Amino acid sequence: MEVVGHVYEESGYYRPDSFDVVLREGESVEPGEFLWVAAGGRKVYYQVVEVVVRRRPAAYDEIMLKTGRAVRDEESDFPRARVEQVGYVSGRRLDSYTGLIRPHQEVYRAEEEDLNVLLSWRRGEASGPTVLLGEVRPGGLELRLRAWDLMRRGLVVFGGVGSGKTTTMLNLVVRLLDEVRAAGGTPSALVIDKDGEYGPVLSERFSAEVLDASSLISSGEGEDVYSRLRDLLGLSGSSREAKALKSAVMSTLGGLKGSFDRATVSAILEKLKSSGSNEAASLAALIRGAIDSIPEPREGVPANSLDGVVSGRTVVIDLTRVDDWDAAYLAMSEALQACYRRALSDRSFGLLVAMDEAHLFAPERGGVSLAEDQATKILRSTLKIVATTGPRNGMTPFIATQRPALIDKTVTTQLGQNVVSHRVEDVDLERVGEIIGKMAEAVRLFPEGRAVVKSTAAPLPRPVVVDVSAEVFPASTGWTALDRWLGGSGG
Ligand SMILES: Nc1ncnc2c1ncn2[C@@H]1O[C@H](COP(=O)(O)OP(=O)(O)O)[C@@H](O)[C@H]1O
Ligand SMILES: [Mg+2]
Repeated sequence: MEVVGHVYEESGYYRPDSFDVVLREGESVEPGEFLWVAAGGRKVYYQVVEVVVRRRPAAYDEIMLKTGRAVRDEESDFPRARVEQVGYVSGRRLDSYTGLIRPHQEVYRAEEEDLNVLLSWRRGEASGPTVLLGEVRPGGLELRLRAWDLMRRGLVVFGGVGSGKTTTMLNLVVRLLDEVRAAGGTPSALVIDKDGEYGPVLSERFSAEVLDASSLISSGEGEDVYSRLRDLLGLSGSSREAKALKSAVMSTLGGLKGSFDRATVSAILEKLKSSGSNEAASLAALIRGAIDSIPEPREGVPANSLDGVVSGRTVVIDLTRVDDWDAAYLAMSEALQACYRRALSDRSFGLLVAMDEAHLFAPERGGVSLAEDQATKILRSTLKIVATTGPRNGMTPFIATQRPALIDKTVTTQLGQNVVSHRVEDVDLERVGEIIGKMAEAVRLFPEGRAVVKSTAAPLPRPVVVDVSAEVFPASTGWTALDRWLGGSGG
């Protein structure tokens, strides 16, 4: 048993929930590391949340430093660690210790057997499929997340640009789908892929269908086909031809609205042919003369039938070629709503929705969106409904975002039961701290691929530091102007 230090409180007050540990000479610990003390006849576990060296400043320190003479006096340096209580294991439960902690008590380093107790789903417990996330630091024990909890509450991945959030999301999605298949299940997954990072990997791995977002057609309300045609033909509203047109449109569409394209107009022409009146015949001639200025019907997948397309498979909505973002937002909203209606009515349909760069699609007030206000509002409200009520009804969102402060708070709070946070910018740290507590500070210094994980799907309710294991990597993207100037061939 390795004694790393002793319990010490500057204030003289000792509380069981949190205290400082003065580290013994030569010992070091890192944020996230587990320690223990013997109390109440048990091993009570603690976790390091901060490491500091304290040295009282001397009056001459600054003068010495100014003249280039550093006082390297390790005798006067006092390394300390702040720890927070994890609890003690009693049977299969983790309980909190509320008894006394004695000043100057020994503090021990947790060893592999301790970590096994804390970080493994207990043997014999019916845990169902679990998904590998990565290796716990320090110690290197595997951290696996329970699929049941992830699907019951959803997931949010935070991280600044290049911190590893897309890699984490992609690997979790791949492993989750693999585990479900291995357990004999047939998962359905919809991935919203803004930068074309998921499509290539998922289509190779799962023969995912990659749908260009601009081929996703929202039914919308339709247009007033009657007025569009009447204006195009230059008919006055009171003319006989206009009246014939109105009745032909009505009998074709069951109203005046529909999609204004050649398919609709051909159907109207058929009606006119069968009517046989003189007005109908002259109107039909007019329409044929103008047919070139009527758009071809759009080809694609109706957004409101996406539930059928995604059922039992993986579909990636690729947003890289979108030029009309309003239309794309509305189509995504409609597609998600169709899936949600299906999930509510069909108990054999369950869906994972993975959405990267989610702050763009569900922005908090004052955030950024790629679409105008109206379309943004509609998509955000759909996403809020899915985040708050979806998981309990068979539709679970996993989101990733680089801007925790700019995404709708309802969404992150709902999904905040399962958080993986990589390094984030200081402006976003506060929001991450609200969700995972003091350990959030540690992420500031993380290299890519490292994260703090706080998750009901993990065996331990405390946040743990993990190096995410990556087997697959996002397809490379982001060909900047510089890459183009230098003549790169593109990813
Ligand atoms: N878990 C990981 N293991 C190893 N390398 C990683 C890991 N996560 C990220 N990286 C590296 O960092 C790069 C950026 O990661 P990415 O997931 O695209 O970041 P983000 O989505 O946060 O911008 C990746 O291309 C990869 O080289
Ligand atoms: Mg990314």
